[in-house]
Amino acid sequence: MDYVIEMLDIRKEFPGIVANNNINLQVKKGEIHALLGENGAGKSTLMNVLFGIYQPERGQIRVQGQDVNITSPNIANDLGIGMVHQHFMLVDTFTVTENIVLGSEPKKGLKVDIAEAEKEVQRISDQYGLKVDPKALVRDISVGMQQRVEILKMLYRKADILILDEPTAVLTPQEIDELISIMKSLVEEGKSIILITHKLNEIMAVADRCTVIRRGEGIGTVNVNETSTNELASMMVGREVSFKTEKQPAAPKDVVLDIKNLVAKDNRDVDMVRGLDLQVKQGEIVGIAGVDGNGQSELVEAITGLRPSEDGEILLNNQSITNMKPRKIYEHGVAHIPQDRHKYGLVLDYSIGENMVLQTYYQPPFTTYGRLNFNEIYNYAERIIEEYDVRTPNSLTMARSLSGGNQQKAIIGREVDRSPDLLIAAQPTRGLDVGAIEFIHKKLIEERDKGRAVLLVSFELDEVMNLSDRIAVIYEGKIVANVEPDETDDQELGLLMAGSQRQKVGEPQ
Ligand SMILES: Nc1ncnc2c1ncn2[C@@H]1O[C@H](COP(=O)(O)OP(=O)(O)OP(=O)(O)O)[C@@H](O)[C@H]1O
Ligand SMILES: [Mg+2]
Repeated sequence: MDYVIEMLDIRKEFPGIVANNNINLQVKKGEIHALLGENGAGKSTLMNVLFGIYQPERGQIRVQGQDVNITSPNIANDLGIGMVHQHFMLVDTFTVTENIVLGSEPKKGLKVDIAEAEKEVQRISDQYGLKVDPKALVRDISVGMQQRVEILKMLYRKADILILDEPTAVLTPQEIDELISIMKSLVEEGKSIILITHKLNEIMAVADRCTVIRRGEGIGTVNVNETSTNELASMMVGREVSFKTEKQPAAPKDVVLDIKNLVAKDNRDVDMVRGLDLQVKQGEIVGIAGVDGNGQSELVEAITGLRPSEDGEILLNNQSITNMKPRKIYEHGVAHIPQDRHKYGLVLDYSIGENMVLQTYYQPPFTTYGRLNFNEIYNYAERIIEEYDVRTPNSLTMARSLSGGNQQKAIIGREVDRSPDLLIAAQPTRGLDVGAIEFIHKKLIEERDKGRAVLLVSFELDEVMNLSDRIAVIYEGKIVANVEPDETDDQELGLLMAGSQRQKVGEPQ
């Protein structure tokens, strides 16, 4: 059998943890090979070994049948291996083209030939149908386009073996569909793809085979057309997983969050929230459904004080928190699971313990007699780690070295644990494995049942439908409909999200 990649008996340790214990992965030419496993199972580590970022303690790697020693990403590039990392690695202040050619720039004399580079970028972008604006600054483009930039970077370097580490975690449903067809056309061109994803239906839709790992151990490789999502889920977590969240009907009480006529702008000074009204009561989960870019991020940032409100009012328990500083808003009882865990959720070079008290470190018991009490801080962090199943050697570990999903679980633990009056959960289960999603959904419902108000923002309609007691549809910066999850379906929601009015849905023209 012709394998383009063979990883045999790979072992990789970190202090206090065996991330990969004798794992095997064999990828055939022209296939899409999924790599599945719980948060912290060792997927990114295995791919970082293949890409030359980490050196394994043991094991053998073969590329196109040849034994190789991949001691750096440059060597991986030379062997035709490219990788899009779980958290993108683009330079924000560079243009799309500058990012793509970085390190392999076309030269004219001693200077970079940027015109030539732009032409080449345009050419590959046309060839593969990966639409980008070669001259745009990376910080101004959508996440979906940033990802296309990462993919173009690999193609520019002529990679044949493409590693995509959770490419769909940050994408909207529309962008996921696009990426799926891009992946299909790439394998038609003869490329091979290793795809990491927690979304089992994506594996069923695109992958040929799937290798499962659990807690650093290889569990096996299956043909996708001979398996099911249920089998994949239980191979991965070692037990049955329930995909439907059980909950009692909500018993909403007083209004906690009351937003009146809110207006907020985006970074380019364009009105994104345009006179929005919204209420969330004690004991209910309100889910915001909407197509990305209809004001949901600006709404969350305005409530949490990360972005100014231009007009209107935000009341929390009948008190205005409009344009207060984030710390004050937090002290008033708002907690926030942010959409971008690296930008707003964690300080990556602090320990996980320090990260657990980012908003509370100056209060007792974490500060006593004017000094930080590290005993208290670390004890508190250990409790969150335990309760939320954050897989880390201990609370002194740097946040950076946790797996993506475990970083997410730590943030959720920190925010939920305070039992705030209002919990804002933006894409809370982004990057979590199916078992962890089940757990987090239960936690959010428990919070609701304790009388908290929960505002959920998610691009995953399933999640919105499953968790919400009421769905508020956002369109062009306004809430255009409030619907009950059991009185609607995906199709109606889709129409509402596209701007149709409810009474017109389904009526003859
Ligand atoms: N640089 C590092 N230093 C120390 N420990 C690390 C480092 N990178 C990863 N680990 C640990 O190795 C284990 C595997 O992590 P890895 O990132 O490979 O998981 P993963 O399967 O990609 O999970 P996720 O789905 O959450 O992204 C985790 O316990 C993690 O904390
Ligand atoms: Mg990972």
